[in-house]
Amino acid sequence: MLVPFRALLEERRAKRAAAGAFTCYDVTTALGVVRAAEQRAAPVVLLVSEASFRAPESRLLVPALLAVAERADVAACVQIDHVRDPGLIASALAAGVGAVLADGSGLPLDENAALVRRAVAAAPQGVGIEAELGRIQGGEDVAAAVAAGAFTDPAEAAAFAELTGADCLAVSIGNVHGTYAATPRLDWERLERIRERVGDLPLSLHGASGLPPADVRRAISLGICKVNVNTEIRRRYLSELSASLPAVLPGLRLLELELAVIAAVADAVAELLDLLGPSLSH
Ligand code: 13P
Repeated sequence: MLVPFRALLEERRAKRAAAGAFTCYDVTTALGVVRAAEQRAAPVVLLVSEASFRAPESRLLVPALLAVAERADVAACVQIDHVRDPGLIASALAAGVGAVLADGSGLPLDENAALVRRAVAAAPQGVGIEAELGRIQGGEDVAAAVAAGAFTDPAEAAAFAELTGADCLAVSIGNVHGTYAATPRLDWERLERIRERVGDLPLSLHGASGLPPADVRRAISLGICKVNVNTEIRRRYLSELSASLPAVLPGLRLLELELAVIAAVADAVAELLDLLGPSLSH
């Protein structure tokens, strides 16, 4: 069932747990995500990447994911991830989704705040706006991110949250999108200070693919209540596809292939959801 973004996150925060947010490139992925969420009785966010949202070929992706989320037996929400262009944010808000990440993290602080404030003002009732402060890098090593001063500043986070009215803040504490070149070393003290400064505002951790399970648990114990995953789902989807292909090709058994991929995505998501449950160490 579709549930407002903020309510979904607040429920997780109150339970010292996190919602899994998984990038879905097609209905096959979404069906796998929802199957796992139903098996684990866990709420879930179906993410649409900016590239997918922009692509004319995927015009039907958002309505399709909304239909999958609506029919789910668990709380679910569809979110457009990482959009910076104001026109695209307006289209995302008009698309009927439950949340948008208005990503001004590449802009100067005041312009980031203005972008998020405008998105919050334009969002229909119940539609959530996530913001990103500091810059979560993609593919680079973490040392480069530190050197670039891209980590979230706790004092700025407090002022930013107050000024923008965002529903959720994505933090940069040593996490990166994509694969980790070296063992990630998250800045726990920084996360604690951010949490103290922003009060009850839901915090999200992006780039969870490749993070050690103990790190994900620790982040939740320190107040993260949304965890974004993309790369790991794509990896599991594509390895199942290539493993199953030789067996189904001779008979052109496409449905069998699709069912195998749904099951593989569901397995991957279930493993991750098991990590996101209530934290005992807080
Ligand atoms: P990964 O691809 O590293 O899992 O990151 C996904 C993400 O943060 C999407 O917003």
